[in-house]
Amino acid sequence: MKIIDIIEKKRDKQELTKQEIEYFITEYTNGNIKDYQAAAIVMAIYLNGMTNQETTYLTLAMAHSGQILDLSTLQETIVDKHSTGGVGDKVSLILLPLVSSLGVPVAKMSGRGLGFTGGTADKLEAIPGYQTSIPMEQFIKNVKQIGISMISQTLSLAPADKKLYALRDSISCVENIPLIASSIMSKKIASGAQKIVLDVTVGKGAFMQNREQAQKLSHTMIEIGKLANKETVCVLTNMDEPLGYAVGNVLEVIEAVNFLKGDMPEDLKQVVLELGKVMIQLAGKGENLVENEKKLLENIKNQKAYYKFIELVKNQGGDISYIENIEKLPKAQYIEPIYCEEEGFVQDINSKEVGKLAGMLGAGREKKEDAIDPAVGIVFMKKVAQKVKKNEILAYIHANDANKLKEAKVRLKEIIKISSTVVQKEKTILEVIK
Ligand code: URA
Repeated sequence: MKIIDIIEKKRDKQELTKQEIEYFITEYTNGNIKDYQAAAIVMAIYLNGMTNQETTYLTLAMAHSGQILDLSTLQETIVDKHSTGGVGDKVSLILLPLVSSLGVPVAKMSGRGLGFTGGTADKLEAIPGYQTSIPMEQFIKNVKQIGISMISQTLSLAPADKKLYALRDSISCVENIPLIASSIMSKKIASGAQKIVLDVTVGKGAFMQNREQAQKLSHTMIEIGKLANKETVCVLTNMDEPLGYAVGNVLEVIEAVNFLKGDMPEDLKQVVLELGKVMIQLAGKGENLVENEKKLLENIKNQKAYYKFIELVKNQGGDISYIENIEKLPKAQYIEPIYCEEEGFVQDINSKEVGKLAGMLGAGREKKEDAIDPAVGIVFMKKVAQKVKKNEILAYIHANDANKLKEAKVRLKEIIKISSTVVQKEKTILEVIK
């Protein structure tokens, strides 16, 4: 088989065979296919699409490009959770200790932030001492011991995705249904969970810009899940404005800790509860969704979820004094307010622009080698549709560089749009697809 023939076939809109797709993935992972040739195929897929059959072959080839984790020794149904990416998305930090506190075992590998979206692994590492890279045996031991472990994606799982994702990012081929579906589902298959809950974000700060695209992506991933014998449920959630109030690693850890202590921003609460009740059901720990929601709220109220988070941090080597006293977490040098210049209603806070701004301040990375600054970011005081008065504070910028602060002030004022007329609040939970 020759890679040039496979490129030509996809370029000419023909369907690739299982063998051709497997050849491409195996040889690319092994370094025998050059990045420029892989880029040509990826761009051809981006432009010409893939059939469902091709997408499934691609996913399975990527999943089998490395180790497939065996979680059977846990002797429980493991439900994995993944988000298609967003801004201010600290859902895993809250949801996973919460469901674990209700007896749902959690073995979670999280990604890092890339481009304008954040990553859970970076947020966990904002807690001093927290180890996101631990040996696989330790990861499984931790789940057995305390019912939860959260680490970063290891190199040994779906290595083809790691290479392809970085390549896609560098050639502007991220927002594409077959490529996103195969990227997510290959990792989920390799991570060994039996069931999967996917938070499929929709809107300005998501890869899927509208509901139709998000539905199509969801159906594709559910079909792949069926073929891999992994029941998959997709929850479509709104990502037009950032989720919750905080964007930035330490700032989101603080918001997550406050949530676990009962201070729950409404949109974040809705996403956590919707995903949580489905996770409990899939894990076989509660059939009734209404009851499941009550159990989730109860474990916030009685602080069991908060204490499970403390247990998780401690077990991963983190210093829990930073969680018990969040004031100790690193602070930015400059914390400056943005004032409202006119009375009205918040019309728009474009989450993609906010994500880019947080990245410019140092909260995210342009390239995967870049270091991030855990302390910087933005904390909003208002959400879309809220009424605002002149001179009220709309947000605080947390910065460690005076020039970046100056630029952020100008950009944030443009991002937060105020309308003189009433603004309709969009729904947070758009749809659940099974
Ligand atoms: N998240 C992933 O893991 N992969 C994608 O392609 C997009 C979002």
